[in-house]
Amino acid sequence: MQLRNKVVVVTGGANGIGRALCRRFAAEGARAVIVADIQAAAAQVASEVGGVAIQTNVTHEPDVIRLVEKTLNDFGVIDLFCSNAGVGAQGGVEASDQDWLKSWNVNVMAHVYAARAVLPAMLARGEGYLLQTVSAAGLLTQLGSAPYAVTKHAALALAEWIVITHGDRGIKVSALCPQGVRTDMLRRAEFGGGAFLLDTALEPEQVADEVVKGLAQERFLILPHPEVAEYFRRKATDYDRWLRGMRKLQASTQVLKAPA
Ligand SMILES: NC(=O)c1ccc[n+]([C@@H]2O[C@H](COP(=O)([O-])OP(=O)(O)OC[C@H]3O[C@@H](n4cnc5c(N)ncnc54)[C@H](O)[C@@H]3O)[C@@H](O)[C@H]2O)c1
Repeated sequence: MQLRNKVVVVTGGANGIGRALCRRFAAEGARAVIVADIQAAAAQVASEVGGVAIQTNVTHEPDVIRLVEKTLNDFGVIDLFCSNAGVGAQGGVEASDQDWLKSWNVNVMAHVYAARAVLPAMLARGEGYLLQTVSAAGLLTQLGSAPYAVTKHAALALAEWIVITHGDRGIKVSALCPQGVRTDMLRRAEFGGGAFLLDTALEPEQVADEVVKGLAQERFLILPHPEVAEYFRRKATDYDRWLRGMRKLQASTQVLKAPA
């Protein structure tokens, strides 16, 4: 997909990776960039890129339906829906139910609500593109955060399922799976599970570059850190060896000590 003249929606567009995507899509000549975020700062990004802000809580299905209906009413079509908003959470199985449910709602159900809302019009047209921001944690794991590792795996499973089920009817899907990216999310995790990701962290603009390339090639996996493909291959080739390696990495980074 080329972005020129396309109508694009980006959730979590007020900050970080989402904001970089909005800026880059506008620079690529998108006809409309709709910046959807729970934060009012979406308006600043929209005015910067000549787009439209629609305040949206992606975990509240009526908000997502309103976002899609308003965009379809105003622009007639949604070419690309980037379901990008996500949240991190520290901790293992002992993390609170509140943290587990928030991670589930933002990192998984928001993608379900988005797909439910956009797919009917896309299927009727016989074309449409979903970009799901997942994470390398969806292919590998997230040291220090069980809720993040689990919900990002679920998000990847949903992306696969959608393209397997609807790919023959013109629906394209890409799953964006970076490791560390220098955004507020990574900065918040600096002293927890995210610390060891800082060395190889990319700027959000570098991720946006890779997204534009990945969309042009219509690749399912978009890997801004190409080494993730090799880690994923090793995991699939010898799971036990991969698990031993991850335990060593966990011990060396001390991100989550076993409960005493
Ligand atoms: N930063 C990283 O290291 C990294 C790595 C891999 C994947 N990701 C993923 O990238 C995506 C974007 O993260 P980021 O790093 O830009 O984080 P960020 O915290 O900078 O931005 C996330 C945005 O999502 C919005 N958001 C959160 N909950 C929302 C909700 N309920 N409704 C609407 N908007 C909501 C926030 O307001 C914020 O603007 C997430 O899915 C994240 O899991 C991030």
